[in-house]
Amino acid sequence: MMRRIDNILSDEGFCSELDKIGHYEADRIYCRHDLNHLLDVARIAYIHALEENSGLDKELIYAAALLHDIGRAAQYESGIPHDRAGAAIAADILAVCGFNEEEAEVILYAVTGHRSGAEASEVSANGAGAAKASEVSANGAGGAEISEVPANGAGGAEASEVSANGADSKTDREALRRIIKLADDESRLCFKCRAWDSCKWSEARKNKELKI
Ligand SMILES: [Fe+2]
Ligand SMILES: [Fe+2]
Repeated sequence: MMRRIDNILSDEGFCSELDKIGHYEADRIYCRHDLNHLLDVARIAYIHALEENSGLDKELIYAAALLHDIGRAAQYESGIPHDRAGAAIAADILAVCGFNEEEAEVILYAVTGHRSGAEASEVSANGAGAAKASEVSANGAGGAEISEVPANGAGGAEASEVSANGADSKTDREALRRIIKLADDESRLCFKCRAWDSCKWSEARKNKELKI
């Protein structure tokens, strides 16, 4: 149904990064970043988009969710935070999977901004210590080059298709970044986790019950 999402799922680069993440996380007792996690984030984010009547494009939501942790293997290898490391990898995948530049910019904004405000909680596999939670700037833009959405909304959009911040609601990058981050947090089943005690998420951040 969503051809370009199928393209990502079968993309060689995407599959190879997922394989590497699986390898590095084989013995991980904390949350893993496998395809189940990515799809949990996609589906929870889409539920939020529907409940909020956001008008966000479903394919962009799924693409951002599938790619939001794609920099994980690079983080394990180099210590570079995965939100940053993932942007370059995701850009290459999006280009070959049929997303145009404008769509890629919106998706990359969510990839690079999905941890903004998160704790510096992750220790890389090579023992490099805590990664910086965020080298993402206050607007969540991070290292990727992102073009600005015009203040008056994307050209030609009908009033009803324009969101509160003036962006075209289908491609509102800040709305997409926010629901990906929300879904990422809500996807974690902390209340059933055996690694609760040693997990570096703060008590306040842990999910004490199912969020949906
Ligand atoms: Fe992440
Ligand atoms: Fe995640």
